Amino acid sequence: MSTTTQTRTAVVARGLTKVYGAGDAAVHALRGVDVDFAAEAFTAIMGPSGSGKSTLMHCLAGLDTVTDGRVGIGDAELTRLNDKQLTLLRRERVGFIFQAFNLLPTLTAEQNIRLPLEIAGRQADQALFDRVIETVGLRDRLGHRPSELSGGQQQRVAVARALISKPQVIFADEPTGNLDSRSGAEVLAFLRRSVRELGQTIVMVTHDPVAAAYADRVIFLRDGLLVSELERPTPQTVLDALMALEA
Ligand SMILES: Nc1ncnc2c1ncn2[C@@H]1O[C@H](COP(=O)(O)OP(=O)(O)OP(=O)(O)O)[C@@H](O)[C@H]1O
Ligand SMILES: [Mg+2]
Repeated sequence: MSTTTQTRTAVVARGLTKVYGAGDAAVHALRGVDVDFAAEAFTAIMGPSGSGKSTLMHCLAGLDTVTDGRVGIGDAELTRLNDKQLTLLRRERVGFIFQAFNLLPTLTAEQNIRLPLEIAGRQADQALFDRVIETVGLRDRLGHRPSELSGGQQQRVAVARALISKPQVIFADEPTGNLDSRSGAEVLAFLRRSVRELGQTIVMVTHDPVAAAYADRVIFLRDGLLVSELERPTPQTVLDALMALEA
């Protein structure tokens, strides 16, 4: 066995361009983004409002079409897939966590967590299910409906739901945006653990330097371009980078 650290790439974008609308109304949301996201790493995407963070994430996740350039997840080239293949890829290889937790209100926590696997006709790996539930600390809440859970607990259900199918990558768009700082910290700590302990790959959009500091790496967008990045961020180095970005 090799003793050197091998870094696999989970997601890759080359020359990624996204234009909304046409003619005078055209908005150039992404202007040629080249970026690699390492497997089993936690990467944060930051940048001013309107800089293209959500657009980048949606294009990487196959939730939106690209105008030009290419996106790869593992060995799949998204830009070559038809709609049906894309739907399948999203279902089998990608997990999502949104700002609004997007849980089904009539289902219990456990049913919500198992739902995507059931839709895909797959069996939950019981050992993984138990491990995820332990890690998110939801064991005694599995029978509760979302309305009976705090915001932080609901988001942890959403995180567990994303993890349970072992996706090649989880995309999270401001997952702590609707949470108070304590619940937000819980969710972030859990995302951090799922990278370290379960080898999950996570790409997260955030506005919050404290949230970004949970990541291994932060990339910064401005006006649809990747303009800088930070390894092993701290809240202070993220803040400094954001100030430099605004200047
Ligand atoms: N469906 C759309 N149609 C037209 N323009 C769009 C659409 N979605 C996004 N845009 C534009 O593309 C640019 C990038 O938007 P995007 O949502 O990616 O920004 P963001 O960095 O996520 O911002 P925020 O921090 O406010 O969420 C913005 O100028 C936005 O107005
Ligand atoms: Mg956004």
